[in-house]
Amino acid sequence: MAILVTGGLGYIGSHTVVELLNNNFEVVIVDDLSNSEKFILKNIEEITGKKPAFYPFDLKRKELLTQVFDAYSIEGCINFAAYKAVGESQEKPIDYYENNLFSLINILQEFKTRGLSNFIFSSSCTVYGQADEMPIDENTPLKMPESVYGKTKQMGEEILIDFAKAYNRKVSLLRYFNPIGAHPSSKLGELPIGVPNNLVPYVMQTAAGIREKLSVWGNDYPTVDGTAVRDYIYVVDLAKAHVAALKRLLSNQSEESTIDIYNLGTGTGSSVLEVVKAFETANNVEVPYKICDRREGDITVAYANANKAEKELNWKSETSLEEALRTTWEWQKYLNSRNN
Ligand code: NAD
Ligand code: WQD
Repeated sequence: MAILVTGGLGYIGSHTVVELLNNNFEVVIVDDLSNSEKFILKNIEEITGKKPAFYPFDLKRKELLTQVFDAYSIEGCINFAAYKAVGESQEKPIDYYENNLFSLINILQEFKTRGLSNFIFSSSCTVYGQADEMPIDENTPLKMPESVYGKTKQMGEEILIDFAKAYNRKVSLLRYFNPIGAHPSSKLGELPIGVPNNLVPYVMQTAAGIREKLSVWGNDYPTVDGTAVRDYIYVVDLAKAHVAALKRLLSNQSEESTIDIYNLGTGTGSSVLEVVKAFETANNVEVPYKICDRREGDITVAYANANKAEKELNWKSETSLEEALRTTWEWQKYLNSRNN
């Protein structure tokens, strides 16, 4: 019995593949390398001593996907594969809808016809928009996200809820807050292609001298120091939550549909300047920055109430912000050594 991991060479997917292999799951990866690189597979093998099956194709190619389902006895899927750049999604909306939703639907067609269950979906705190109250629990009302990317996440959730209900299947929707950090081995991490949009990769590249200065987008928010607040969750902790969610689905013997929804965050908010300071302290480096206008579409504050995941998955975030940022810097050093 195998677990299909789509996008398994990507940032969160690769860390999750390691945790799955360490928990003795058989893993089949499909990843078209549109936002990842082949050396990640070798590094997964070095870390775990195991070799997951790997198929480098685009999930929109349904005939190739069917062959994978014919070749393996699939007992569940973790679907990481998606395009994720918020700004780009506004410029290329049809490409984002096509990639993120057609890929999902192709897998679900296989699940439907083969009677399969146990589907885990990478969702996002973006489905809550700017929530009226903090912290955000799973009952917080959803708001249609402003970005096309965010809409693909909310639509993906709706598609999976309908799938579970119509065919009595089990699904888990995991709403990540802001994943950061890298594997303790320094062999896996986020590979920002081009200029990073997200805060921590930009901080990392500024400290490394690749970028001159971090632009802090706004210091007039009603927060502790005027900069926006997010919940930064360490990627290895996040990866472990997937294993816990999968085990819960697999042990659920119910014949009825199951829709598990979890917020995955630390429960603590940190401002942009707090992240900058924590990075400097953790790594004894300087991060030059300048204060700029707010970034369009940004919210003021978002942090999770992750009590449901703690209660039902026996999971909680364990790693401090500083420790996560220390692994980020080690990862940058590893990337430097690869380029030399
Ligand atoms: P990532 O880009 O590093 O990983 C996604 C992987 O999927 C990449 O390796 C890419 O090559 C692959 N892929 C994309 N489209 C594909 C297709 N059609 N066929 C086959 N492979 C394809 O992204 P990530 O940060 O690891 O995010 C994983 C998931 O989590 C995504 O669905 C993302 O939307 C979601 N998510 C990410 C964040 C975040 O901040 N990183 C936050 C919330 C949710
Ligand atoms: C964090 C904070 C920025 C870069 C995005 C997606 C969301 C989710 C997570 C996937 C904000 C500030 C950033 C910079 C800065 N992804 N910042 N200078 O905005 O919470 O969410 O990633 O689902 O959908 O929208 O994350 O890392 O971009 O920004 O000041 O150069 O850092 O303004 O306050 P965000 P982020």
